[in-house]
Amino acid sequence: MALLEVEDLSMAFADKKLYDDASFQLNKGEHMGIVGQNGVGKSTLIKVLTGDQLPLSGQITWQKGIHVGYLDQYADIPDGMTLIDFLHTAFQDLYDQNDRMTQLYTEYAETADDKLLERAGRIQEILEANNFYDIETEIERIITGLGLDDIGRDHEVAQMSGGQRSKIILAKLLLQHPDVILLDEPTNYLDVGHIAWLIDYLNDFDGAAMIISHDYDFLDQVTNCIINVAFGKIIKYRGSFKQAMRQRAEREEVQRKEYEKQQVKIEKTQKFIAKFKAGTRSKQAKSREKQLSHMELVDPPSSNIQANFNFPYADTGSQNALVVDQLSVGYNRPLLKPVTFSVNTGEKVGFEGFNGW
Ligand SMILES: Nc1ncnc2c1ncn2[C@@H]1O[C@H](COP(=O)(O)OP(=O)(O)OP(=O)(O)O)[C@@H](O)[C@H]1O
Ligand SMILES: [Mg+2]
Repeated sequence: MALLEVEDLSMAFADKKLYDDASFQLNKGEHMGIVGQNGVGKSTLIKVLTGDQLPLSGQITWQKGIHVGYLDQYADIPDGMTLIDFLHTAFQDLYDQNDRMTQLYTEYAETADDKLLERAGRIQEILEANNFYDIETEIERIITGLGLDDIGRDHEVAQMSGGQRSKIILAKLLLQHPDVILLDEPTNYLDVGHIAWLIDYLNDFDGAAMIISHDYDFLDQVTNCIINVAFGKIIKYRGSFKQAMRQRAEREEVQRKEYEKQQVKIEKTQKFIAKFKAGTRSKQAKSREKQLSHMELVDPPSSNIQANFNFPYADTGSQNALVVDQLSVGYNRPLLKPVTFSVNTGEKVGFEGFNGW
């Protein structure tokens, strides 16, 4: 049985249709890339799958009992919680069980009631089965992999930059070892070294995954099938990312030919109608008109729509576009030593650095 079965899913916001009667499955072992142009509804699809958004119609069926983990960047994190405490909350259930066990042992010491000992033993088995005694090692592995020490274990989550926050939410999600992991553009806030770590992590991850990304190089390394969201349809392609993209291109080529053929037919019919509508062949023209109105239209293939920008510049006659002199930046205290630099007209400057630095 599939881990996830999506049947006849339709979704729209106001009058914007996202998908119509879309069906696909996620199977065990699949690491699925989700691709499509901006605004086609990829993030919305994940929200529908997690139940955060209600679809217009259709069925979403997750296999019973599986744990689905979603990278929720807007998760509520209590004020004052530090990075290390936050990571420990991934195992809150086990810590609660552990407390319960300690309490049972204390009660046993007072009452010598064997039943308490039995109950404590059962909890002990659960803790062992869930690798409770390896939690600290596991947390260290993630801290090293994602470079969380650079943020600081006692740093308060509430005071973190957007990238840092996303990073620790990802860390917690990975610690929870869900059966299925849902990631929406995970590389957006990771620096190069940590993307490499995430690639290794996902390749070793034996659960299923659905990953939205516009970074094809990343998807190529972590996926074994894709779904393409375009023109109200969701189509699944199997195989390596490159094979899947080739199949998508072939399919789009067939669609492009069908589309062009249909456009020629429509034009011909419209000309016929215009020419004979009022004349002796008006009946025929009417019948063609009917035919046209019932025609199932082929969508144009989703060739990448190229954006065009045109900024009309006026020459200011000045060399310096920006001059920054001894600038201090920060919140309660400066984050950097005072910075001095200038940008000349025509220069394009990139800013780089670790998350939150
Ligand atoms: N809560 C909402 N209410 C109304 N419209 C929404 C809502 N969320 C998303 N939309 C609209 O639905 C469309 C799909 O949005 P979505 O965020 O799913 O796109 P996406 O495929 O993830 O795009 P991107 O690649 O840019 O992240 C967009 O037109 C967006 O404006
Ligand atoms: Mg999105």
